[in-house]
Amino acid sequence: MNILLLGSGGREHAMAHKIAQSAQCSHLYIAPGNAGTAAEGENVALDMMDFGAVGEFALHHHVEMVVVGPEAPLVAGIADHFAAIPALKHIMVIGPSKQGAMLEGSKDYAKAFMQRHKIPTARYQTFTIGTLSDGERFLDTLKAPYVLKADGLAAGKGVLIEPDLVTAKAHLREMLGGKFGDASASVVIEEYLDGIELSVFVLTDGSHYLLLPEAKDYKRIGEGDTGLNTGGMGSISPVPFADKAFMRKVEERIVKPTVRGLRDEKIDYCGFIFIGLMNCGGDPYVIEYNVRMGDPETESVFPRIKSDMVHLFEQTARGNLDGCTLEVDSRTAACVMMVAGGYPETYRKGDPIDLGRDDGTLVFHCGTKRDTEGRLLTAGGRVLCATALASTLPEALLKSYNRSQSIVWEGKYQRRDIGQDLLRMMQQG
Ligand code: AMP
Ligand code: GLY
Repeated sequence: MNILLLGSGGREHAMAHKIAQSAQCSHLYIAPGNAGTAAEGENVALDMMDFGAVGEFALHHHVEMVVVGPEAPLVAGIADHFAAIPALKHIMVIGPSKQGAMLEGSKDYAKAFMQRHKIPTARYQTFTIGTLSDGERFLDTLKAPYVLKADGLAAGKGVLIEPDLVTAKAHLREMLGGKFGDASASVVIEEYLDGIELSVFVLTDGSHYLLLPEAKDYKRIGEGDTGLNTGGMGSISPVPFADKAFMRKVEERIVKPTVRGLRDEKIDYCGFIFIGLMNCGGDPYVIEYNVRMGDPETESVFPRIKSDMVHLFEQTARGNLDGCTLEVDSRTAACVMMVAGGYPETYRKGDPIDLGRDDGTLVFHCGTKRDTEGRLLTAGGRVLCATALASTLPEALLKSYNRSQSIVWEGKYQRRDIGQDLLRMMQQG
């Protein structure tokens, strides 16, 4: 079948790489894609938020499946668009309905959903400018640090963790006053969860699910988890502390009630659920839902999936996931991100990249493009990542570091401590 993948980052390159390997894929289009996805299929210059144009393209190119990478088209209702138009109805869309996507599009909606289904999460309340003083009083009842979350999508910047009450109150006022525009017209205030973070991924047809490999993401720009938040500086899968007993708790207390909740509330959901959770002393608590795969988690999770992903997508779209199993590579995948100097603040684009020597390590493109002469150039903050698979974490790290160090451009930066916390944890048993 002809498949259209929407998105342009490292997540989409890792997905394109996997989809292109499927015997069921005859032609893969990526819109808009990057220089890496161009080697896996055909990039097309489409605006993925222009659903009319996406639908037209799908019709004219006999696309049978649309796989949606990022959240924005889902939150804006791309799956509903395809379902509502008779000529597009037959096309499978891998991604939830607009209502399902609210699990990511509105933190308040997600928290209320968790509360309705008794899914463990931090205690919270939601406030607007009209209830600012109630919000301040709620902050008084909590202990530092204080967690403030813009209700809507805020490009990953909408969560503030405040060390003291005075700053928390000041920032609450700023957020409700429009700091993140409409996204912070409502603000969720919640208890701080102290623990280690983990990303859990589920593929669901709305009734049944498959648990994909979990991963750990490194969000801060600086080594030792310091400095500004980024899209993610590396990822590791599997995660040593997510042992069988812990993952069983995740499945029983979080995954099953989540999927059951979607089904009971008749929310159309065919796609990924990414559960960001905190391991607090051995018990999992949900921090957030996302309605897509993670980036850079996909770059370590997808290379470990041995099953044919297109087959699984098809079964997902048909509501047949119950008969499916997932075959996973038991090796460890380590992904190290390389970014443009200055990222996540202002950075330069257009620097020529020397990709170094191919040693079999996967190199996924995140922000790259080719100029008219075919030279590879930087075109984003996160530029490339190197993912290596090996039987142990130290070996996987060594391979991905060796590969990433052979890649050169002016101003390139990468963290050198990805996975080191997990190694220390393993040594301490
Ligand atoms: P989010 O944008 O929801 O992913 O939040 C950004 C980051 O803030 C998360 O990845 C966590 O590291 C942190 N965070 C969010 N909520 C909490 C919480 N209740 N307790 C502790 N850390 C949190
Ligand atoms: N790596 C976190 C995210 O994709 O949101």
